Amino acid sequence: RILYLPLDTAALAMGADAVADAFHAEAARRGLDLRIVRNGSRGLHWLEPLVEVATPSGRVAYGPVAPEDVPSILDAAWTDGAVHPLCHGPTEDIPFLKKQERLTFARVGLIDPLSIPDYEAHGGYAGLRQALAMDPGAIVDAVTESGLRGRGGAAFPTGVKWRTVLQAPGAQKYIVCNADEGDSGTFSDRMLMEGDPCALIEGMTIAGLAVGATRGYLYVRSEYPQAERILAGALRAARAAGWLGDDIQGSGRAFDIELRRGAGAYICGEETSLLESLEGRRGLVRAKPPLPAVRGLFGCPTVINNVISLATVPFILARGAQAYRDFGMGRSRGTLPFQLAGNIRHGGLVEKAFGLTLRELLFDFGGGSASGRPLRAIQVGGPLGAYLPESQWDTPLDYEAFLAISAMLGHGGVVAFDETADMAALAEYAMEFCAIESCGKCTPCRIGSVRGTEVIRAIRDGQDREARAELLRDLCDTMMAGSLCALGGMTPYPVLSALRHFPEDFGLAAEQPL
Ligand code: NAI
Ligand code: SF4
Repeated sequence: RILYLPLDTAALAMGADAVADAFHAEAARRGLDLRIVRNGSRGLHWLEPLVEVATPSGRVAYGPVAPEDVPSILDAAWTDGAVHPLCHGPTEDIPFLKKQERLTFARVGLIDPLSIPDYEAHGGYAGLRQALAMDPGAIVDAVTESGLRGRGGAAFPTGVKWRTVLQAPGAQKYIVCNADEGDSGTFSDRMLMEGDPCALIEGMTIAGLAVGATRGYLYVRSEYPQAERILAGALRAARAAGWLGDDIQGSGRAFDIELRRGAGAYICGEETSLLESLEGRRGLVRAKPPLPAVRGLFGCPTVINNVISLATVPFILARGAQAYRDFGMGRSRGTLPFQLAGNIRHGGLVEKAFGLTLRELLFDFGGGSASGRPLRAIQVGGPLGAYLPESQWDTPLDYEAFLAISAMLGHGGVVAFDETADMAALAEYAMEFCAIESCGKCTPCRIGSVRGTEVIRAIRDGQDREARAELLRDLCDTMMAGSLCALGGMTPYPVLSALRHFPEDFGLAAEQPL
């Protein structure tokens, strides 16, 4: 008898280990031969800990499970016709999951993340097998044709970045995975690393073959100890199975990965400060150019990509560029793992092709607010993303459509707020966040964010509101135009969107259209 119970951080936070202990104890008491596979999370967070029972007709879901539910679940699990109040039927038929298009997350929650045989039985390493038989340029072509764009947030074409590194002269090149997932409300990188780490390892190896790099670094957020443990185990397993090392599967090609713990600063997720941090220095942003693709880690040409970008590459190589391109709209090809968080009934991970609307995501998947009150503002794209009022919820989730409304999709984080949210307080928080996290290198961000926080506080205190709002807009202009990186350059997005769409929260009259 087999049960699946996630070892993902979200499930652990909800008590998954205590549930596992209860199953072991109860099975021993009954003399039941029970095997518990610790898988990744399916991403249905409101049902965690989610227990799946393997039956002849597929996996059946129970959740959220507490230790005291264990005896009754064991009574019902393999008994024909039994009904259990926590049973949701076949996992794959739960609408939240059934309506998704899981390409990058196809195996997350299905497999044992530390088992290479399980990984290969579910299509793992098919992409790398292809890549081993291809020229570097052909691998880069496939990634370019797929239309994959950087999933860390900036949406730069991955194939173009790889080509720059391939063509850059240099005896030593590197692959760096940015797993410093710092955006509020985001967790797709973590879920992927905890649920299907070999997909990331495979993607990094393919990147190495594509650009001629033999060494990779995986920079994991320090607040992700579970991801770090699982990645360490997966790296050991991949090496033992000959998928990493000096002679990958007897091909004569070499690639290996070093795992590094992040330094605990938001700015270390910015690519150049991440490189500084990897080199052993304080995370300070470097001016670009030179691009990391030309002069990156230790001055060598470096591919630096987000977890999801790299973990998507095996699918593209295994199934072909067109299979990936077939999903999406306009220039946003493929899928994005959206992350639903905040005041939402059904929070979790939704991988869908670009093009659905925010409203569909919030209501068809999210089920509206958790509080039962009307939703009011949605922040898309992390702490640097705009707050969207209801009038903008029908915008398709597409990089260009979001840019057109002065917003961004970023890393796909979606944080919902209901009608009780104070948008002026959230604008102040955005500026304060920037002031706290600023690396201090450039003036508009270092000083602007402190002054900006003060100005918003003064507006909220009712001091000379209209004139100060003008000052705040002016300051935001300076930050956007003069900051060296996205932290200072994009903090104005949440601030200005709150001011524009929710002026009443600042005690201001509605802005006049230009
Ligand atoms: P960027 O637009 O400067 O660069 C995007 C990427 O393309 C970089 O890797 C850059 O080196 C590369 N690139 C640009 N031109 C190139 C060329 N000609 N050849 C090769 N490579 C080239 O954006 P940046 O500063 O890297 O990222 C900003 C984004 O980060 C924001 O849009 C935001 O969404 C996102 N972000 C994500 C966070 C997260 O936790 N995932 C946190 C904060 C921001
Ligand atoms: Fe540093 Fe802020 Fe300037 Fe970025 S914008 S380089 S975080 S001071």
